Amino acid sequence: MATHVNPGSAQAGDHGTIHREVSPEQQTVEQRLVDSVVASFGACQDPRLQELMVSLVKHLHSFIREVRLTEEEWGVAIDFLTKAGHITDEVRQEFILLSDTLGASMQTININNQAYEGATEATVFGPFFVEDSPAIELGDDLAFGAPGEPCWVEGTVTDTDGTPLAGARIEVWEADEDGLYDVQYDAGKRAGRAHLFSAADGSYRFWGLTPTPYPIPNDGPVGKMLDAVGRSPLRASHLHFMVSHEGARTLVTHIFPEGDPIGRKDTVFGVKDSLIKRFERQPAGTATPDGRVIDGTWSRVRFDIVLAPVDV
Ligand code: BEZ
Ligand code: FE
Repeated sequence: MATHVNPGSAQAGDHGTIHREVSPEQQTVEQRLVDSVVASFGACQDPRLQELMVSLVKHLHSFIREVRLTEEEWGVAIDFLTKAGHITDEVRQEFILLSDTLGASMQTININNQAYEGATEATVFGPFFVEDSPAIELGDDLAFGAPGEPCWVEGTVTDTDGTPLAGARIEVWEADEDGLYDVQYDAGKRAGRAHLFSAADGSYRFWGLTPTPYPIPNDGPVGKMLDAVGRSPLRASHLHFMVSHEGARTLVTHIFPEGDPIGRKDTVFGVKDSLIKRFERQPAGTATPDGRVIDGTWSRVRFDIVLAPVDV
């Protein structure tokens, strides 16, 4: 009986895919099922929902057929999703972690925040933003006692023509030197985060902490998956920003220190070259921009933020 490479499989050696041969009769059985599932969405009244469901089913079946999924593997996948559901609650979102570690979050961000003439690039949101961060004034410290090396952060917020944007809301959040966010200690704790507003000339400045690498929460099924495939759970060091201003596209981004040991191996694929900044370490005793005396070393970084117009 003639055999054929199953549909959807890659060329020999491409991405390591192993070809398996499937008889024409078997292909007909499999394709008939795909066709009937696709047809089951024929009466859907919402065209976008219909497009999403049909495409999802086609890709899902194509994956199952390409890898010739075993029933045991199907069971492992169901068990994985069940565990992801069980560990998910108001503060722990395992499905977003899964999306992040498969690059699906970053791809969705790429599609929805397309590059715009010199505007600052976006990256992943992450799970640790909270709505009620403390307000600080320009030049204040957002550490609120979180441990870590002090870092002076300054820059401007402008539109893509270079016009300063006064009163832009700048939300900043970051992990402490032990790699933990405030909410990981206690849901009500607020430290290592704040919001402030840009001045009339678009400038902003604050004290934060020099970012350090830390692992994503890896005590659940996503951590096990990373372990099983030999991937590190570490994120490149970063400082989160969300910047908004009327008439501008809200920017969710990070900055990453140049020379970071994790760098491009960031486990959620969030690093973009334009977001890598020079954090200059200052020896102990160096005068700070606001005349403070700091016992140990500190660092400083400049991050000029350019917001794209809304609806681009
Ligand atoms: C974070 O930046 O903290 C983060 C982002 C994605 C997944 C987990 C953590
Ligand atoms: Fe983070």
